[in-house]
Amino acid sequence: MQTLISADDIQARVRSLAGEIRRDHAGDLHLVCVLKGAFMFMADLIRALPGTTSIDFMALSSYGKSTNSSGEVRLLKDLDFGLEGREVIIVEDIVDTGLTLTYLQDILRARGPRSLRTACLLSKPSRRKVDVAVEYIGFTIEDKFVVGYGLDYAEKHRNLPFIGILD
Ligand code: IMP
Ligand code: MG
Repeated sequence: MQTLISADDIQARVRSLAGEIRRDHAGDLHLVCVLKGAFMFMADLIRALPGTTSIDFMALSSYGKSTNSSGEVRLLKDLDFGLEGREVIIVEDIVDTGLTLTYLQDILRARGPRSLRTACLLSKPSRRKVDVAVEYIGFTIEDKFVVGYGLDYAEKHRNLPFIGILD
């Protein structure tokens, strides 16, 4: 496993993202974590966010298998709370083709949040198929399949505290 982004670099970047997010939102923040990949990012992000926050979780799955997104997305677990009038931040692990996030933003926007913005730890712009708005990006990376810090390959490697490239 080759390290792409060290644990220290992730921690520093997550803290500065939290600062950016807080500067853009005066009131209560409602964070929506997209399971499972974003769980670690979410845990570090909320600890670095000053002020009042609430959290919720949802789980999606692409119909397509393995390392490629088909764009067909299935909702595996919906949110526990409504979004009406809330300042919502979607917390995602990575935006690749953008298909998953586009789907998610569309269904969440329909629930009437006051604002809806997205924080992604990673972005692979060279893979984008749809132009999706991501207000907060941790790191822009090349087209390599990465694991660790929540991200998996076949459910493995989520526990790594750094982002690595699989051999
Ligand atoms: P998209 O719909 O192509 O943007 O796919 C986004 C989803 O694919 C992410 O939420 C991840 O679950 C998964 N994914 C995309 N690239 C990677 C990667 O390099 N490592 C691990 N998962 C990835
Ligand atoms: Mg994901």
